[in-house]
Amino acid sequence: MKTIHTIQELRAELSAARAAGKSVGLVPTMGALHAGHASLVRRSVSENDVTVVSIFLNPTQFNDKNDLARYPRTLEADCRLLEECGAQIAFAPSVEEVYPEPDTRHFSYPPTDSVMEGAMRPGHFNGVCQIVSKLFMFVEPDRAYFGEKDFQQIAVIRRMVADLGFKLQIVPCPVVREADGLAMSSRNTLLAPAERAIAPQIYAALSASRDFAKSHSVAQTREYVEARINAIEGLEVEYYSIVDADSLADVTNWNDAASVVGCITVYCGSKPIRLIDHIHY
Ligand code: PAJ
Repeated sequence: MKTIHTIQELRAELSAARAAGKSVGLVPTMGALHAGHASLVRRSVSENDVTVVSIFLNPTQFNDKNDLARYPRTLEADCRLLEECGAQIAFAPSVEEVYPEPDTRHFSYPPTDSVMEGAMRPGHFNGVCQIVSKLFMFVEPDRAYFGEKDFQQIAVIRRMVADLGFKLQIVPCPVVREADGLAMSSRNTLLAPAERAIAPQIYAALSASRDFAKSHSVAQTREYVEARINAIEGLEVEYYSIVDADSLADVTNWNDAASVVGCITVYCGSKPIRLIDHIHY
């Protein structure tokens, strides 16, 4: 595997691959890689001749500068994991390389980017669109892989791809979980042992709500999930939204949309750490 830090070197490497008729898969990440990221990389390796994994802690998508400051940074271990997964290129540029000038572009795809995480983290999805659109321009991949762990992010990126006419396929990949159900996340390493012990209750409540929903309304199901999680000391629901899986608009009845998903954000512990998850009904 090659580790590349500049756009110029990346382009040279990829144009040689393309000239040889090779397909290119891109897996965008912010590093601190775990088995969830690895599943995306392995999928790309199995479907493309060349897999590029970007490792870039993108400052423009962090509205909370503390969150950025304490985000784990583990580049050496990340590169070892990517080697094991069979990736050909790790692209780890500096902030100056990616943003030689402040990015003044503004993206707006309501309601996908204005509800839930968009409402709670103003500017977050604008930053995600800034970096992901740049990565698409640098790499020009045939396929780009994203985890359903960040369900809303995929909906926003789909809208951006349609808007800007990128010629590539978005490949959504299932959530990888710990044995106790907690969705894997780079932020999980920030949880103290007692917090880590209660965090699986989030997915437990979501899973139980699937049965509950069979005989209850959308509003009752939302209340059930919120009450069950808030009853646990150390967990506090920020929002639980039950939405159309495509548009992310709220639904009031189960048959309002072809596919309905519940998206949750929970504060865990005293720092606190924000954990997100979702469930399909
Ligand atoms: P990051 O949080 O590093 O995640 C990179 C990719 O891995 C995302 O597509 C995310 O959904 C996926 N992922 C994370 N945890 C996962 C899990 N447990 N199971 C499956 N997939 C998982 O998401 C970002 O970075 C950034 O916003 C990015 C798209 C790289 C733009 O900066």
